[in-house]
Amino acid sequence: MVKSIQEVVPRIAFGGDYNPEQWDEKVWLEDAKLMQEAGVNLVSVAIFSWSVIEREEGKFDFSWLDKVLDILHQHGIGVCLATATASPPAWLSKKYPEVLAVQENGVPYQPGSRQHYSPNSKRFRDAVRLIVSKIAARYQDHPALKMWHINNEYGCHLSECYSEESLQAFRKWLHDRYQTIDTLNEKWGTNFWSQRYNEWDEIQFPVNLPTFYNPSQKLDYKRFMNDAIFELYKIEKDILREITPNVPVFTNFMYEFKPLNYFEWSKEMDLVTWDSYPDPREGKPYRHAMHHDLMRSLKNGQPFYLMEQVTSHVNWRDINLTKKPGEMRLWSYSTVARGGDGVMYFQWRQGKAGAEKFHGAMVPHSNDPKSRTFQEVKQLGNELNKLDHLAGSKTNAKAAIIFDWENWWAVELEGKPHNKLSYLNQVYKYYKVFYEHNIAVDFVRPTSDLTNYQLVVAPLLYMIKNGEETHLEQFVSQGGTLLVSFFSGIVNEQDHIHLGGYPAPLRSLLGITVEEFAPMSDDEKNIIVANGELFETKTWSDVIHLEGARPIATFKEDWYKEKPAVTFHRYGQGNSIYIGTDPSESYVNKLLEGLFQQLEITAPVESPANVEVLERVKGDNIYLFILNHNEDSVTISLDNELTYVDCLHEKPISNEVTVGGTDVAILSYS
Ligand code: GAL
Repeated sequence: MVKSIQEVVPRIAFGGDYNPEQWDEKVWLEDAKLMQEAGVNLVSVAIFSWSVIEREEGKFDFSWLDKVLDILHQHGIGVCLATATASPPAWLSKKYPEVLAVQENGVPYQPGSRQHYSPNSKRFRDAVRLIVSKIAARYQDHPALKMWHINNEYGCHLSECYSEESLQAFRKWLHDRYQTIDTLNEKWGTNFWSQRYNEWDEIQFPVNLPTFYNPSQKLDYKRFMNDAIFELYKIEKDILREITPNVPVFTNFMYEFKPLNYFEWSKEMDLVTWDSYPDPREGKPYRHAMHHDLMRSLKNGQPFYLMEQVTSHVNWRDINLTKKPGEMRLWSYSTVARGGDGVMYFQWRQGKAGAEKFHGAMVPHSNDPKSRTFQEVKQLGNELNKLDHLAGSKTNAKAAIIFDWENWWAVELEGKPHNKLSYLNQVYKYYKVFYEHNIAVDFVRPTSDLTNYQLVVAPLLYMIKNGEETHLEQFVSQGGTLLVSFFSGIVNEQDHIHLGGYPAPLRSLLGITVEEFAPMSDDEKNIIVANGELFETKTWSDVIHLEGARPIATFKEDWYKEKPAVTFHRYGQGNSIYIGTDPSESYVNKLLEGLFQQLEITAPVESPANVEVLERVKGDNIYLFILNHNEDSVTISLDNELTYVDCLHEKPISNEVTVGGTDVAILSYS
């Protein structure tokens, strides 16, 4: 049986990607010693080393990797061993050009960068099988091996392929899904624009078309590519499971990544890991926080690892801003506070050659242990090593936001009433209020178990599939509060309209029907009136008829003025709220604050602005994180009936705590 993550790494993991194949052997020992000094306990090795391991077809050289793993083990550093498949060697595509992914215009990608493979290529899959089996067989008993790091950031650069082999695979995928061509015609609505198919081999990719594509076809292409890349992952996973049944496996996810349905992928992973690169001056810290919360939610709250972040600056933006002193440390604690049991970096040693040589790392070019970067890394590593007891603790959220990848794919397809709608921006808008109020929130799928939540928010849930509404009805009828925003419940899983009056599947739950949509141009606005207060609104208006709900805000202007903009409906033991527009943040804030109050959902402690407060729970122990993103210190009042232990300074504390600028306090209490 596969071991739990806490069994293999019973602590907060600290380390990063380690690419020793880019360095002379004499550096390896120095690396291991420096890693020890920095408190590193886990590194990911061999991610991009296929061409070094298998220099020619079938000829494997593991001598260097043997030495590296031995050195790391001798220094007490565990390894997430990569399967080396992220970037295929040039000899492979020279000999078998069909392994190359093909662009929309029919031109294949070439070696010379990375990830140029086609996930649908049988030859590529065979080559993957071979190298993964060899690596697994060789290192199955190596004591440094803690976990398998499968491939790397699947789909990062390339999540579509238009090769002939991909086309065959697409047709097969469709055949498996629909069985008969008549069913496919019905599911794709092909009587529209004379798109009927008689034979499977008439079907092409939904690209290179004179005008609009068939949205059902495009949606299926997205599903197909997600599945194809997922298959590739599962090929590796199955081999690893067979050879090393006890060793956990993962691949690393990305943020704001649309092509892969991470909820589905997580089911096949023992640990969710992801890579985070917020722009230091973006000024939207809630986004970074939301990515953490989403990652924590993918496996029902099981702690995740932040597999990659940068110490200082990346090299792939136009201008690569550097994190200021203390920021990297503080943001790393935000990772831990939001459920991270691993804080890792890309990469250990800053590269001397190649496209990423100006990307920050734990050890900078200067190789100076006194450098600011290394000092900050070392401080954090040594602090995290004091927090072993925290690993495995969980977040107890009373609220959730529905997040659905298929909905994301569908709602952003072309041909909509408003074609600038961004699913993520709508989700961010609601999430931000939770973030700013320090209210823990999970992300759930429309069909997730909602029994632990009092409040569920469903922004822009355009697609309602396979009876998901029944699940939401149950949640509300049993006492839950559901908030749904505009353009929700409109289509089924094929992107066909749910007939019966918008939003047909949610009509009785919300107690309304929407007769018409009235999207606004970029420079149009409207006002909504709620309890006599005025709030700006933009993007979208619904023309709503009440069917049991009552209005709690109305439009002030335009031809639908005085009609409901926001409605409230009692349904069973609970309440549903519908927002038929895109109101200002101040309104969303006000509405959610009212709900927090009514439902008694509160922050762990009161705090001034820009102070993140979160809790993690393990048995009777509660860990209270106070992260001060301000430059000046803040003093936070604590519950005077409790005694806390300051985990970083290992001393008791009561009544109040002062947290310096860009600093953190972690207090445990029970
Ligand atoms: C990630 C990738 C790493 C490295 C890093 C640079 O997307 O997994 O290999 O390229 O970006 O920021």
